[in-house]
Amino acid sequence: MPNEEQLNLFDLTVAEPPPPAPPTWEEILSNAKIPIPPGTYQNMEEMVAHCNQCDRCRLGKTRTNAVVGRGNPRAPIMIVGEAPGQNEDETGQPFVGKAGQLLEKILAAVDLNSQEDVYICNAIKCRPPGNRVPEADEIAACRPYFLEQLRLVDPQIILLTGATAVRAVTGDKRGITKIRGTWMTWEGRLCMPILHPAYLLRNSSSDRGSPKWLMWQDIQAVRAKLEEIRQL
Ligand code: URA
Repeated sequence: MPNEEQLNLFDLTVAEPPPPAPPTWEEILSNAKIPIPPGTYQNMEEMVAHCNQCDRCRLGKTRTNAVVGRGNPRAPIMIVGEAPGQNEDETGQPFVGKAGQLLEKILAAVDLNSQEDVYICNAIKCRPPGNRVPEADEIAACRPYFLEQLRLVDPQIILLTGATAVRAVTGDKRGITKIRGTWMTWEGRLCMPILHPAYLLRNSSSDRGSPKWLMWQDIQAVRAKLEEIRQL
């Protein structure tokens, strides 16, 4: 009778290759080609610590602080901007300059509380020097952080402020004035592109059809949608 060992010599099954080792923190932080697997972060604090050591793109060399997010990390509404500006880079908080102050007023006008109802962040976490528009490779390097943030917050509504945020998140290249105020679905999530608050700062008119007037229409539609969702 052949013993087990002899029988195994005739085993024709091909051994599965071992699963690839998960990336090390050093790899994630230094190489944009290394994916960041979904589920990497348990909470925002872990991500903040990581983003402040991140060197996945050139913006790691020039930032003062990474700017991850503020507000309720389990909010029903996630507001996504383009990139941190100077005030944000200095404080580590998104939308704290003039555009941010206007955003607070817009939210308050429809009784949305920025500590409870919204979580505010940007498509990329580090300031581009001189507030230039982020490059495609910078957006790509930072995208896994955004996707992890989205997974953790799990919002019911995403507001994308301005064309760059729309393009960075959804890939939609249409002009913001064409698509603002329209509901769209991206990755199964309800999104609305809205004008960037900085754009409103450059146009003070509140006449019908002005940026301010359009924002007022859009934010009321967002408020109504939130109520609708809450009643489901
Ligand atoms: N503009 C943005 O898009 N994001 C900020 O955080 C500040 C200004």
